Amino acid sequence: MSKPRLFCTHVLFEGPRRKLAEYFDVDYWTGEERPPRDEFLKRVAGKDALICLLTEKIDREMLDAAGPDLRIVANVAVGFDNVDVPACTERRVAVTNTPGVLDETTADFAWTLLMAVARRLIEGDRLARSGAWTKWNLDQLCGTDVWGKTLGIIGMGRIGKAMARRAAGFRMSIIYNSTTRAPAKIEKELNAEYMPRDAVFEQADFLSLHVPLNAATRGLVGPAELAKMKKSAFLINTTRGPVVQEAALIDALERGVIAGAALDVFEREPLIPDGLRRDNVVLAPHLGSASIETRTRMAMIAVENAVALFSGNRPPTILNPDALR
Ligand code: DGY
Repeated sequence: MSKPRLFCTHVLFEGPRRKLAEYFDVDYWTGEERPPRDEFLKRVAGKDALICLLTEKIDREMLDAAGPDLRIVANVAVGFDNVDVPACTERRVAVTNTPGVLDETTADFAWTLLMAVARRLIEGDRLARSGAWTKWNLDQLCGTDVWGKTLGIIGMGRIGKAMARRAAGFRMSIIYNSTTRAPAKIEKELNAEYMPRDAVFEQADFLSLHVPLNAATRGLVGPAELAKMKKSAFLINTTRGPVVQEAALIDALERGVIAGAALDVFEREPLIPDGLRRDNVVLAPHLGSASIETRTRMAMIAVENAVALFSGNRPPTILNPDALR
């Protein structure tokens, strides 16, 4: 019997690749760049399954191009703002994501950014590397202490909690706001105090965003929120670029409304506006989950979801179980 046909928009790591080959006739996109849209639509035509990255837009046009055989879109990311889930459900296409495996790795990276911007690591690296460093100076590249400060977290989900846990070693106060307040036991464990969102913006020395991108969170950090922040505060974003109004952030940085920012995500990735290329802004190319271990696990989850569906089982991390009815 022939295997189901699957299009995968990126070559996977060895383990997931081997497993995928056992079950599917796989067509991989092997280009250096992400597949151009027209090429993507051509390659997905007639496929039974799709494994894609967050860079691919899964919408009605794409579903039309794929045709009626498509049964699953396995997104190799926990965020799924690139997928029109209701449109997939209407057509009985299962959608899956990769929750639970990238929380600690992403929190590690949010902390990497926080530390880098507070202690001016990138500026220091640039100076040391350039050969222009000639002597130790008492006031050279003095940053801001992290220990003992107030960490504000917007979105206390799995990654927000992992972020909070790491603050203990820095003896920080933790304040947070989230659509769902954490149970008292968790608040106690994390030593985190729930506050109205405005109060978190007002009181945080480091404000880290951990909400998913959806209609309610798009543009959540705009001029009004930035104006509430302390002049000495830093904004850390490892979730999705459009959660922050980039133009408002640039304006706030230019006017000294906040002290700086550390950003892993941008409104129109991979475009980074010139206004963000400043010494008090640390920039990263969406690396939050980018460890070999975690990215391999994420790819494996996508594969396991596809395999489960074609073995007659419920994909373990399905987002739209209604598509299976
Ligand atoms: C995700 O999974 O949504 C991240 O942004 C990439 O790991």
